Amino acid sequence: MKYCDVHMDSLHLKRNDLLEGLLKKRENHLPKAQNYKPYYWEASTYGLDRLDLFQNVPLEIQSAILSRLSQLRLEEAYHIEKAGIAFGAKMILESQTFEERKLYAHFAAEESEHLAMIESYLDHITEDHLTNSFLLYLSDLIKNAPKEVLVFMIQVVLEGWGLEHYTELAKTCNDPSLQKTLKKIVQDEAGHHGAGMILFKESQLSAQQTQMITQALRVFLNMVRVGPYSLITTLKQYLKLDSQQVTQTLIKLQAAKETNQKLLTLRSLAIRSGANKIIQEMDNLNLYSVTENKLLAIYGEL
Ligand SMILES: [Fe+2]
Ligand SMILES: [Fe+2]
Repeated sequence: MKYCDVHMDSLHLKRNDLLEGLLKKRENHLPKAQNYKPYYWEASTYGLDRLDLFQNVPLEIQSAILSRLSQLRLEEAYHIEKAGIAFGAKMILESQTFEERKLYAHFAAEESEHLAMIESYLDHITEDHLTNSFLLYLSDLIKNAPKEVLVFMIQVVLEGWGLEHYTELAKTCNDPSLQKTLKKIVQDEAGHHGAGMILFKESQLSAQQTQMITQALRVFLNMVRVGPYSLITTLKQYLKLDSQQVTQTLIKLQAAKETNQKLLTLRSLAIRSGANKIIQEMDNLNLYSVTENKLLAIYGEL
């Protein structure tokens, strides 16, 4: 199995000042941050306008929460784009045809552009990525999974999912230049996801590859089934919510309904790719849905 180290935890800390100037010239044409804002998404984007617990705290605290949530979104995007370059590099090396190799080279260059655009909105990078289970999962996947597994997990599932996510971020963003950036990313990601849909053939997978996909997908779906984890964690931290308030918040935000919608989106991505056996296995384990009771129970245990 080929191996590609993503260096998720440290690559952004290893800098080369001489090359920075060269990169700046190449990235000159990209839409970048005009000025920093304290946050780029309003309270209503997260459903916080419907939450008395949020509405009743002073404006400075509301603003601090929105700023933290905004930073979390942008930082996560930053690390995902950074990992996207490593994914492209691995796929370039593993390409079996002339067209594949050229295509993945284009994709890797686009991920590098995405990274540069997102980076311009971050004046600092926190250490949150070190404990972000999705980022750790993503880097582990890129590092260890074979090409056939990555085509499905990264291009069909995660880039398809990213497409929905970035579209929503673009639609609800309060800053025109960030909106422009996000729209450009959506356009490119549609191409990355589309290529995955063409390349993925469930019937050509070996039994071992199918098993690796179902294992990886199971882990990912269980992460999605946790619902709005970083939102709740942030609210808990700033508003000192007790467990009863966490439950009320999840109900008010209709977390179960929204999580189920996300799971259905993921299921429809798999359907469109023709991953019938894989879907069957996930359905047998009920992983494309979550009940409200289950969701509340998860937070009771956290
Ligand atoms: Fe990207
Ligand atoms: Fe991508």
